[in-house]
Amino acid sequence: MSDTPILISPSLLSCDFANIERDVQAIEAAGADWLHVDVMDGHFVPNLTIGPPLVKAIGGVATKPLDVHLMITNPLDFAEAYAKAGAHVLTFHWEVARSPEQAREVIAAFRQHGVPVVGVSINPDTPVEELAPILGEVDLVLVMSVFPGFGGQSFIEDTLDKVRWLRAQGFQGHVEMDGGLNAETLPRCAEAGANALVSGSAIFKSPDWTACIADFRAKAEKATAHCS
Ligand code: DX5
Ligand code: ZN
Repeated sequence: MSDTPILISPSLLSCDFANIERDVQAIEAAGADWLHVDVMDGHFVPNLTIGPPLVKAIGGVATKPLDVHLMITNPLDFAEAYAKAGAHVLTFHWEVARSPEQAREVIAAFRQHGVPVVGVSINPDTPVEELAPILGEVDLVLVMSVFPGFGGQSFIEDTLDKVRWLRAQGFQGHVEMDGGLNAETLPRCAEAGANALVSGSAIFKSPDWTACIADFRAKAEKATAHCS
């Protein structure tokens, strides 16, 4: 089991985009560790969100690290833009590379542009074993627990096995889960070995963000207590 700390990463996809500065400040004050930023291109996923200028603007008002999740077909073309926009974590999808060679090109570009935490993500229907050749070359693996594109979907149970597999391989980096995490599913992600926990609708729809994040953290830490 990894000794990486529990990190709660609220997904800004569920914030009020007309009041993004207010919500960034409020969610940081509520205890967020990272700020999860969902970048969608309308090609890799059937939804379109934000690009480098808005990521940069978020970075300008944030004090916590930006956890940027690229759901785009051409991460290589945008490595520099998102690195310069202030991504602390920058994650691309394995499905757009699908070979160790192409994935390595993306990883190298992210590192060349100074990204501190380089991540790779897999969709629910992608076998995690495909990542084996590059596991030693990334700092984070993002296991999608819904099909990417929208907030508010239901957690897909069998994605937990991928987290267990990653830790069984001895992967010591961050294992992140994203999609459908709430008070019931989030502790089970932590128990399986995930330490970076993304949650959008469950946090932003809760009446008290501070209490919600504290509850998630306490449940996740309790779920992992027997492992340490
Ligand atoms: C889905 C995004 C998620 C999304 C999670 O494509 O990658 O980050 O915001 O939202 P919830 O927590 O509502 O499932
Ligand atoms: Zn995401």
